[in-house]
Amino acid sequence: MEFVGAHILSVGQFDRGDIERIFSVADDLRPYATRRRVTRVLQGAILSNMFFEPSTRTRISFGSAFNLLGGEVRETTEVKASSLAKGESLHDTARVLSGYADVIVMRHPETGSVAEFAEASRVPVINGGDGPNEHPSQALLDLYTIKQEITARGRGIDNLRIALVGDLKYGRAVHSLCKLLSLYDDVTYHLVSPPELEVPPDIDEHLRARGHVVNTYHDLETGIHNVDILYVTRTQEERFPTQEEADRYRGLFRLNQHIYTQNCEPNTVIMHPLPRDSRATAQELDADLDQNPNLAIFRQTDNGVIVRMALFALVLDVADQVHDYAQPVTWYTAKRTPG
Ligand code: CP
Repeated sequence: MEFVGAHILSVGQFDRGDIERIFSVADDLRPYATRRRVTRVLQGAILSNMFFEPSTRTRISFGSAFNLLGGEVRETTEVKASSLAKGESLHDTARVLSGYADVIVMRHPETGSVAEFAEASRVPVINGGDGPNEHPSQALLDLYTIKQEITARGRGIDNLRIALVGDLKYGRAVHSLCKLLSLYDDVTYHLVSPPELEVPPDIDEHLRARGHVVNTYHDLETGIHNVDILYVTRTQEERFPTQEEADRYRGLFRLNQHIYTQNCEPNTVIMHPLPRDSRATAQELDADLDQNPNLAIFRQTDNGVIVRMALFALVLDVADQVHDYAQPVTWYTAKRTPG
């Protein structure tokens, strides 16, 4: 794809070459993402960060990524704090904001809303999550993490075996990751969920049509055998028609150290898009796994900054100029705890 000036709305836009390009730029940006070097390549540029649903990782890491490239960030964090609450359309909001910013990241509770917004925007729009539909930047950082973890174990993404566990119906991170992985060869998917929360039929059909092995499980302990990656998700309570319905699934599948040891191959990588639900009634990923070296969840979140920097660098066409605008680091003390 042509990245310069493009909207990033769906992982369906990418082929394997595009992913390699994003990951190569991300690798190049690592010293800046980790604050060992500083660049001002986007000095004077403005990001409008529009989040109409709660977020910690996506909003802050997109904002940090833009700051780390030298740009400035303007935030809108609730519908009620914007004129959408006064009946303004997504079209008009996009027309206005694209006069104020050079790139826009948007999260919205409705499927297709970010694409609708992008149609009216005169600057690139990146989908930060549209309802239960897609979360493309999450899938990219997940795949970047999978590549790192699997490479360290002497393997590649082709022939990957992955279990996706939890609410596969409403989990947009799962939907985007499933589709992104389908670009690779001979992936085996273990789809582990309650029967009512299986992956949407169109995604299941897409994976099978591409020749991948898709196995469906309704039992956690059976589904997590013989995989390289265990990708756990929370029940997306906010997507259910009623709280009562969501409560039926809360805490149904819980991965802890004992279940992991009993059922998983040694060194199976544990991932989660986060947030994990740490309330006593949920705990789909128990804190007793926190000392397990195969738990990659915070390596995932760190990678979010790097991959989002790469997206900005590519759509704003500065990927080849980052080092030209580098400045000496005067404040870095390297006091961070490695982890
Ligand atoms: N993974 C993810 O999208 O997290 P946030 O909702 O905190 O952004």
